Amino acid sequence: MEPTHPDRLVENATAPSAGGFPGPDGKVRLRMRLPFRRGSSYLTPALGAPLPRASTPTSSNRSNQRMGAGKEQENEIMDFRGIKDSVALANGIPMPWLGLGVFRAKEGEEVAQAVRYALSIGYRSIDTAAVYGNEKGVGEGIRQSGVPRSEIFVTTKVWNKDQGYASTLRAFEQSLELLQFNYVDLYLVHWPVAAKFTQTWRALEEIYRSGRARAIGVSNFMEDHLTELLSTATVRPMVNQIEFHPRLIQPDLLRYCADRDIQIEAWSPIMRGAVRDIPEIRTLSDRYGKTPAQIVLRWDLQRGVVTIPKSVHPERIGENADIFDFELSQDEMGIINALDTNERLGPDPHNFDF
Ligand SMILES: NC(=O)c1ccc[n+]([C@@H]2O[C@H](COP(=O)([O-])OP(=O)(O)OC[C@H]3O[C@@H](n4cnc5c(N)ncnc54)[C@H](OP(=O)(O)O)[C@@H]3O)[C@@H](O)[C@H]2O)c1
Repeated sequence: MEPTHPDRLVENATAPSAGGFPGPDGKVRLRMRLPFRRGSSYLTPALGAPLPRASTPTSSNRSNQRMGAGKEQENEIMDFRGIKDSVALANGIPMPWLGLGVFRAKEGEEVAQAVRYALSIGYRSIDTAAVYGNEKGVGEGIRQSGVPRSEIFVTTKVWNKDQGYASTLRAFEQSLELLQFNYVDLYLVHWPVAAKFTQTWRALEEIYRSGRARAIGVSNFMEDHLTELLSTATVRPMVNQIEFHPRLIQPDLLRYCADRDIQIEAWSPIMRGAVRDIPEIRTLSDRYGKTPAQIVLRWDLQRGVVTIPKSVHPERIGENADIFDFELSQDEMGIINALDTNERLGPDPHNFDF
């Protein structure tokens, strides 16, 4: 039987180079300039102002930053130049700022055509999950696109029923089999299933060490989940994929993750279309001649949040990527930041039963 997916619970909700991927020798060549002050990117309420440009970050200054290097490195600033731009995760692996979400994209031609189209216009990141039931179509779409696998950042996730050490290892094999790849770029623990996720994480560490996931991370983890995980982890999660949009910013969680170099990635970034109903977003939309979705996705980038809007429609897939030719001001960033009402579209990670 198909597992119940949390997102089905909200079915009625209104409906980012420089290359950046390792060469054949496995060395990462790209470093993209970040549009925020690293170490505080998620935190500072007003981050949209044009800021002085700094030099391209290197692996060494990243690791200095992780160790708490000085203010001048914290103030390293960057910009976004295009759809293929990436952020370097804590282990140096580049992850595109913008990706295509495929939850509720139907297995088969629907998801494959969305993936093909997205890749054809420059997307280089696809976010799927075992529970979405469309990993096969995602893999097919990628192969049909003609874009080399090595240029695409593929994320999938272990579903709740498969959590635990041995079952996660098996679930991972199954995902690779469906995708028809021999590695993924990012493997995530989909939800913090109590009493299981530390053993699940042990399996992810093993997968990571084997090279079959270039990065590993979590999803829907709150501070207490992360603290528990980190008490036994030998590899720190590189990403936390969370519900994140103007009505749900979770500043404490963002701060916690920023302090530990855990990249935040936004799910339901455009509130499944409902950002169009927020008057302040509509005002900005009119001001820039951009759609409400574009305004909010741009806000994600300027906050230093990786974002993965979902669409199966070419015009929207294109619209959601057309966010690299304008910049929100500091005041405008502040206006969106002030919309936070701590309201979820999806389940509460502290209170879910699936
Ligand atoms: N880790 C988790 O627990 C979790 C949970 C939920 C989602 N996710 C991931 O995050 C991705 C994005 O989240 P999401 O799918 O929940 O929500 P979303 O990206 O905020 O919104 C997607 C919905 O909005 C519509 N849409 C897309 N672009 C639009 C635009 N420019 N204007 C108006 N409507 C637009 C889409 O319809 P059409 O397809 O018809 O265009 C779809 O119904 C998912 O696909 C999945 O990969 C992860």
